[in-house]
Amino acid sequence: MSTQSQDIRSEVLQILQCFQLSEDKLKDISDALEKEFVRGLGKDTQEAASVKMLPTFIVDTPDGTEKGDFLALDVGGTNLRVHHVHVDKELTTESEEEKIPEEKMTGRGDDLFDFIVDKISAFIDSQKLKDQVLPLGFTFSFPCQQKAIDKSILIRWTKGFSCSGVDGKDVVQLLKEAVDRKQGFKMGPVSVVNDTAATLMSCIYRNKKCDIGLIVGTGTNACFMEDMRNVQCVDCEDGQMCINTEWGAFGEEGSLKDVQTDFDIEVDKKSNNPGVHIFEKMISGLYLGEIVRVVLVKLTEDELLFGGQISDKFRPSVLRVLKTPSQFKTEFISEIEEQDKGPENTVEILNKLGLDFSRDLGRDWVEENVKIIRWVCKTISTRAAHLCAAAVTTIAMRIYANRIYANRGEKSTADRNITVGVDGTVYKKHPNFKKELEAMVQQLAPELHITFQDSEDGSGTGAALTAAVVQRLQNKKAEHDKREERGNGGSTSL
Ligand code: BGC
Repeated sequence: MSTQSQDIRSEVLQILQCFQLSEDKLKDISDALEKEFVRGLGKDTQEAASVKMLPTFIVDTPDGTEKGDFLALDVGGTNLRVHHVHVDKELTTESEEEKIPEEKMTGRGDDLFDFIVDKISAFIDSQKLKDQVLPLGFTFSFPCQQKAIDKSILIRWTKGFSCSGVDGKDVVQLLKEAVDRKQGFKMGPVSVVNDTAATLMSCIYRNKKCDIGLIVGTGTNACFMEDMRNVQCVDCEDGQMCINTEWGAFGEEGSLKDVQTDFDIEVDKKSNNPGVHIFEKMISGLYLGEIVRVVLVKLTEDELLFGGQISDKFRPSVLRVLKTPSQFKTEFISEIEEQDKGPENTVEILNKLGLDFSRDLGRDWVEENVKIIRWVCKTISTRAAHLCAAAVTTIAMRIYANRIYANRGEKSTADRNITVGVDGTVYKKHPNFKKELEAMVQQLAPELHITFQDSEDGSGTGAALTAAVVQRLQNKKAEHDKREERGNGGSTSL
């Protein structure tokens, strides 16, 4: 290696240093998150807390006796999905999906809901379900203050959505109004869930055991079953309820100030929701590519990348491409980090972006540049996995503490087992994210045995299963009320 490239490498490493998080730092982050969890669960502190710990009104999980036909609707990312799920001993699902056009994500709320209802109507027609009124599981993956299983008020949009007239409104009501406007079909009872809760439900259904629902995709978030005694904003002390942590907002209260790099600050400033969802912007798919892009701009400007070895004609065009926001997709990070694909893979991606630098450089310099780009990608994705590990550990420790409490202070080996059901493109498609996450979780919580399970279309089937559990509980209650009524000689008691 020439002295010139050695110098370049050490300068690059120095710039990337700010993304390295020591184990101690990750433990501090986990502790700060736990404090936010407590504030989020507190009656008087929730409003000011960044991590809202939102009650979902899901108080039971599938027990395998659920039966029936359900519709499921999944709104929360780039695609809108509609499913018809038949729940019996096994699940059968028919689905359709469609990309949500950019103008619907950022236009008027009514237009978005009309678009959704049109898709449901078309699906119902194609499935010949028009004469049935099916319960609907509605996965709506944004922070919502849930008031009941069928009432959910949007707190704020995330993940690039910004439709007007929806903030502060009940999304189930907006859906109903769109159904009334369109008169396309008759809507049954609605159960609204976050995608983390839907993932948890579907993993429990498939594997009997799951403790945490985790999403690392366009956005990031997690949920778990919390003891009601800790959920101060719901008036009930018994049993458990699924809590949607909305951990993506962590950091808004300032705990991540010393972790946020200048690159993160730039990405945040240029996002459509600056100052909020700080944690999400360091971890999830909508932002990882952007962080890599701004680092590559800095390295190019400092002539550490596409440096003095290329013609001056080329550099301005490189910078023009790199300075275009959203040019560098998170999926490129996954492709570039694929170990067995050689440097050609990275060169191909850069070519796709219009950066045909291999014509300008000798082979050695191409490899040198590719190496640096790979380092950048690896640094950013590893930090994301480590931050996620710190947060998973925080929830796992809470669950463990709750179990010890339930056992009156006794610790058992079985209680140390925690299962995490996971969905999302970053987790599933990135070649190393999963490994990095698992390894760091192990390091941060050696006393626990935390395992991860891939969820298969958790958002769709999970929503249907939530509707199925709600139906089972309602049927049980109706039977119970009937028995009581008979016991009272037919008179209705209140
Ligand atoms: C939303 C969460 C959601 C997560 C994953 C975040 O932006 O606030 O509600 O669960 O993305 O989709």
